[in-house]
Amino acid sequence: MSMTIDLTDTEPMPEIKHESLINISSWFGKTPLINASGCLCATNKMLDELKTGDPAGICTKSCTLEPRPGNPEPRYWEHEEGMMTLNSMGLPNLGVDYYLDYFKTRDNEYDGWRCMSLAVLGPMEDTYQMLAKIIRPGVPVDAIEFNLSCPNLEGKEILAYDKPALKKILADLEAECQFLIARAHAKAYESDIDANGSYTPPQFGIKLPPYWQLQDYREIAKMINPMMFSFIHTINSVPNALVIDADREETVIHPKQGFGGLGGEIIKPIALANVRGFYLAFQELGHPWKKIKIIGCGGVSHGQDVFEMILAGADAVSVGSQLMIEGAGCIARINEELIEILRRKGYHSLDEFRGRLKVCAAATN
Ligand code: SIN
Repeated sequence: MSMTIDLTDTEPMPEIKHESLINISSWFGKTPLINASGCLCATNKMLDELKTGDPAGICTKSCTLEPRPGNPEPRYWEHEEGMMTLNSMGLPNLGVDYYLDYFKTRDNEYDGWRCMSLAVLGPMEDTYQMLAKIIRPGVPVDAIEFNLSCPNLEGKEILAYDKPALKKILADLEAECQFLIARAHAKAYESDIDANGSYTPPQFGIKLPPYWQLQDYREIAKMINPMMFSFIHTINSVPNALVIDADREETVIHPKQGFGGLGGEIIKPIALANVRGFYLAFQELGHPWKKIKIIGCGGVSHGQDVFEMILAGADAVSVGSQLMIEGAGCIARINEELIEILRRKGYHSLDEFRGRLKVCAAATN
């Protein structure tokens, strides 16, 4: 027996908008975008403003145990057409308690990823004290990022460039975090502060400087792969760049003889190389499932930059200089541009092309 359906009698099919099939979520939220620590995140007001751009998460300015004034002004410069920035801020911040207070009190409606960036500048005891404030039941922090790559500290080299020292610091941080997590579990169990008496620790990540040799990616990936870290954030600004005002015959910023961290569109190829380098290095280690996520940072100002970062292997992407240049609204614009690129290319999610960068074929004569 055959059954026929009278199509004239059925409701018209609702039109499915192509965009509604496009999913740009990332492992930490509804989009791949977060701010790079340092940009629009030093005060409550800035953090509130940042959220108006609707990023999937927010990250605080890298903080220290006590408030810090940072380097003398002028310490930030922007190219007039927005293609680059130079900074030597020197980690000015309002102290760990200020940012914790923001997450605990001012921000309690926020449903995005909350990341606290901790500046690791020694003494380590300071970092441990900051961790002890965060790793406890009831503290609404989803991730802790250790900043080991600030290029702007007078008289100090970039920590993450000294590999033996980096290894020791990461091992010490891991041991301390594990101790604090065990303590938090016990406290949650005793006091029932967190729902059903269990404690969920934050994710831990590392903000890295740009590396230059392919061997560097392999060595760092091998170092951190067995550790507790669940993400790397690459790259911080390109260190010790110099911009000259030829009319005045002087540097454009004051600290460190005018040397500072370079950011903006101009550094994108270096950032892409670091994302790709780490993606391939982790793959070589036999972790194609990506135990350690990669947040790509550097020169992201358009949807196409995010597309390229993900194609190179990034799991998420951060926006730095463009937030300073354009304000929080750039996040929504970049997301829209990204959706438009996926629509044009026929992709439905970021997973469909993540890491799938092809090497162009060799020329034949
Ligand atoms: C700074 O405060 O100097 C910038 C932060 C950083 O580059 O890590």
